[in-house]
Amino acid sequence: MKICAWSPEYSVGVASLDEDHQELFEILNTLFTLMADGSDDKPILRILRELMDYTRYHFEAEEKIMAQMFYPDLERHRVSHQKLVQLMDEFYKEAQNGMAIFVAVKVANVGLEWLKNHILKEDHLYYEYMTKQNLHF
Ligand SMILES: [Fe+2]
Repeated sequence: MKICAWSPEYSVGVASLDEDHQELFEILNTLFTLMADGSDDKPILRILRELMDYTRYHFEAEEKIMAQMFYPDLERHRVSHQKLVQLMDEFYKEAQNGMAIFVAVKVANVGLEWLKNHILKEDHLYYEYMTKQNLHF
């Protein structure tokens, strides 16, 4: 079942980061599928863990590239990343206490909205900067 997918409008002009974003959409999609199937806690916790780990890995990669391009708004962007990481940590703890499927619904909806908004509004700002400076990564 495909609930969400990356499309070219989400491109940030860096192939490796576009691939990361595609993977994040895929993980969210898996979460939506588990929810639709009425999954038990264990597989949901596994996917939530995967989502958190991949998100952390991706934010690090993105921040590293922003630093390499001397992106002036890096600190504000980093704070936005940190807030999501904290929120996901809270959700994960909640899911560990049982009835993970209810937490999964929150994570999937909040996560998907966050991802779409963040790419289109915040990531696209470094894309714009990169284009203006004629930088390529
Ligand atoms: Fe970002």
